[in-house]
Amino acid sequence: MNVRPEEQLAGSNERRSKHKHRTYAHYINGRSVPPASGEYFTSYDPFNGEAWAEVARGTAVDVDIAVEAARKAFPAWRAMTPTARGRLLLRLADLIEEKAEFLAEIEVRDNGKLFAEMSAQTRYMAGWYRYFGGLADKIEGSVVASDKVGHFNFTRHEPLGVIAMITPWNSPLLLLAWKLPAALAAGNTAVIKPSEFTSASTIEFMSLFKEAGFPDGVVNALTGFGAEVGAPLVAHKSIAKIAFTGSDESGQRIYEQAARNLKPVSLELGGKSPNIVFEDSKLDSAVMGVVSGIFAATGQTCIAGSRLLVQRSIHDVFMDKLLAVAKGARIGDPMDLATNVGPVTTPPQFEKVRTYIEIARAEGARCVHGGGPVDVPGGTGNQFIAPTIFTGVDNSMRIAREEVFGPILSVIPFDDEEDALRIANDSEFGLAAGVWTSDMGRMLRMSEALEAGTVWVNTYRAVSFTSPFGGYKRSGLGRESGMESIREFLQTKSVWVATQMDVQNPFIIR
Ligand code: NAI
Ligand code: MG
Repeated sequence: MNVRPEEQLAGSNERRSKHKHRTYAHYINGRSVPPASGEYFTSYDPFNGEAWAEVARGTAVDVDIAVEAARKAFPAWRAMTPTARGRLLLRLADLIEEKAEFLAEIEVRDNGKLFAEMSAQTRYMAGWYRYFGGLADKIEGSVVASDKVGHFNFTRHEPLGVIAMITPWNSPLLLLAWKLPAALAAGNTAVIKPSEFTSASTIEFMSLFKEAGFPDGVVNALTGFGAEVGAPLVAHKSIAKIAFTGSDESGQRIYEQAARNLKPVSLELGGKSPNIVFEDSKLDSAVMGVVSGIFAATGQTCIAGSRLLVQRSIHDVFMDKLLAVAKGARIGDPMDLATNVGPVTTPPQFEKVRTYIEIARAEGARCVHGGGPVDVPGGTGNQFIAPTIFTGVDNSMRIAREEVFGPILSVIPFDDEEDALRIANDSEFGLAAGVWTSDMGRMLRMSEALEAGTVWVNTYRAVSFTSPFGGYKRSGLGRESGMESIREFLQTKSVWVATQMDVQNPFIIR
C-alpha cells in the first residue's frame, strides 16, 4: 500500500482550505431560503473530519413551500416552446463546464471523492444537460393509423408535473444529471432532495440555473434528513412522480409510499455485479477492468464489480497480476491528484464496510489483500479502508450476496461458461455485469444471457448520456439516460377528432 508523505500534499491543502465555514440554505423559487425550523446540521469533510459546512434542516413545512413553487412554475414552463426550454439547458451546460473545477472542489470537500476523477466528471456531466437540451424539441407524437372511419387520431407526449428527485451521497451531481435534464426537457418542474451527508454541491449548483435564465420555481432544492424532509416530499399530494437513486431499503419504502398516492416511481438501486474473466481474455486488460470496477471511487458505486468470477484454469496467475496492481494503489488525500483510493464517505458507511470484512472472515473467505482500516497522514477523519480482496468465496456467502458499497472484492472461481452464467445470475440484483473474453461468440452469448441492465464486454464502468442505464430484478425500475429515458417523464394522450359529423346511436360504442 502506498501512503503519500504529508509534505507532498501542499496543492491539495490549498484546494481544500479555499472552501470553509459555508452555510447552505434551501433553494426555492430562485432564492436561498432558510429552513422554517431555523435549524442547521453540520456536514463533515470525510478526509480530515473537519466540520466545514452548516446545512438547512428541512421539514414538511419547507416541502410545502418548495412543492408549491414548483407547482406554480409548471404551467408557464410547460407552455414555453420546447426549443426555448432546450436553449436554457444548453446555456446551463456551458455554465457547468465553466464551473466544473469549482463544483469538483466542493464535491471532494463534502464527499471525499477524488479530485482527479471529479474535475473530469463535472465537466462530462454537462453532456447530460446538452443531450436533453437537444432532445427537448424532438419529442413527437404520432398520427395513429386508425381503423375508425371518419376519425382522425393522434398522440401527444405531455409532461407529468412536479417531479421529486432524491439522490444519494456517492455521486450527488452526476446522479442528479441522470434525472433533471430529461425531466426539464420534457416540460416538468422539480424539487430535489440530496443526501444529508453531501448536500453542498447540489445547493451550489442551483445558482447556475438562475445564471442561465431559468424561470424561478422550475428547479428547487431542499436539504435535510430522509425521514424529516425526504418522506414528506414523497408523500406530498402535488408530486407527480418520484425519481430516486439510493439503497434498495429506502427505494422499497418510497415505492410503498408512492403506491398510497398512486404515483409512478423510477428507482436506481443497488447491485452485486459480476465481473467475469475467462481464460481466453487479455489478462492484463481484465486486471485493469476488475480494479476500476471495485476500487475506483473507493468501491462506493452502484455498479461496483464486487464479485470477480474467474475461470479456475487461470485463477492463480490472474490473482498474482491483480495483487500486483492492487498493491500499487495509492490511498490518501482525495484532493491530491496522485491518489487512487480516497476515504469512505460517511461514518456509518465506514462501520458497514468494516462489519462486512468481519462477516467475510467469519464465513471462511480468505483475505489476501487489505482487510481493515488504514492510517493516512492528515486523514484525521479516520475513514480509510484498505482495498480488500477475499478469495475462496462461495456465491452463497453474504459477502457475495449483499451490497457492501466499499472497496471489498469477492473472488469466486468457476469452471466453464455455463457455470459462470449460473453464478453470475444467482443474485437478487441485476444492475451490471462485465465479461472478459476474446471469443466473439461467447461475447454475444454472455451478453444475451446475463440478467443485468448493462453488460460491458472487455471494458467496465462505461456510462454516457447517450445510453440507457437501469436495473434488472431488485436493482431498480425504469431507465435513465439515452433517448428512451425521456419517456419516464412523459405521459401519452390520445386525441380523437371526428372528420364527419354523422349521427350515431349514442348507446352503442363502436
Ligand atoms: P439511502 O437510500 O437511505 O438514502 C438515499 C437518499 O434517500 C438520501 O437523500 C436520503 O435522505 C433519502 N431517504 C432516505 N429515506 C427516505 C425516505 N423514507 N423517504 C424519502 N427519502 C429518503 O442511502 P444512505 O442511508 O445514504 O446509505 C445507506 C446504504 O445504501 C449505504 O450504506 C449503501 O450501501 C447504500 N447506497 C446505495 C446506493 C446506490 O446507488 N446503489 C447509493 C447510496 C447508498
Ligand atoms: Mg460531508
